[in-house]
Amino acid sequence: MREMEGKDMATATKNSRSDAKPAPTGLAVHCRGVTKHYGAGDNKVMALRGVDLEIAYGQLMMLVGPSGCGKTTLISVIAGILDRDEGECSVFGVDYETISQRQRTLWRGQNIGFVFQAFNLLPTLTAAENAAVPLMILGEGRHSAVKKAEDVLARVGLEGRSKSLPSQLSGGQQQRVAIARALVHQPRLIVCDEPTSALDEHTGHSVMRLLKGVAMAEDRALVIVTHDARIFSFADRIATMNDGVVTRVAAPDALTH
Ligand SMILES: Nc1ncnc2c1ncn2[C@@H]1O[C@H](COP(=O)(O)OP(=O)(O)O)[C@@H](O)[C@H]1O
Ligand SMILES: [Mg+2]
Repeated sequence: MREMEGKDMATATKNSRSDAKPAPTGLAVHCRGVTKHYGAGDNKVMALRGVDLEIAYGQLMMLVGPSGCGKTTLISVIAGILDRDEGECSVFGVDYETISQRQRTLWRGQNIGFVFQAFNLLPTLTAAENAAVPLMILGEGRHSAVKKAEDVLARVGLEGRSKSLPSQLSGGQQQRVAIARALVHQPRLIVCDEPTSALDEHTGHSVMRLLKGVAMAEDRALVIVTHDARIFSFADRIATMNDGVVTRVAAPDALTH
């Protein structure tokens, strides 16, 4: 696999940004007392019951916990895909509740990359077209967007597959297209739901090195939901969730030893 190692990617990312600034102060993500429910009446489910979570700039935070404990709901609130019920939540100092829907859509498009658990690739678009979607949404022309997408696909080991449709790719290859799509517009926050679940150990580690390289830039952050203990060592911090709250935040060696 032709991949960019972490430091190179971070440097390339920094150099390509004309608005490079000194290290920001404050937190990349700040959640305090966040609650969220689904449904009503007898069907009401409290998915988040008061989440506190802080993610520093340049940090890779993993989120672990049993199925149904609220991980996907929490990252959806952080990414601005779902509205919280109560509590505080800001990302790079921006609270979605204080800006209009239009501003939020634009801000999210520029600043967030999301890897969905089910990949959510568009079946009629090629791998490169799928990965180019965030750039095209931001107004970049089709030709240059697809060209940039092909470069990122090569970095996740999919050189030569850019013209394939999702149905012509394995689960692991589709997962890497979804990861390329989350990276292509160089977002400041990347949020991933089980990004290595369909990858073998070697490919999973390569993808993690690439993702980690992106997050190590000092104005960025990365949140990864995972069950995959093989990648815990890539985390700076691991937050454990249980029944709608974060119960513990620890360094990875505290969990694996
Ligand atoms: N769209 C939804 N409608 C109703 N209940 C939901 C929905 N999404 C998630 N839930 C419920 O909310 C709780 C948390 O779900 P989720 O955030 O998906 O957990 P996890 O990602 O940790 O498995 C679970 O009880 C789940 O069944
Ligand atoms: Mg989930």
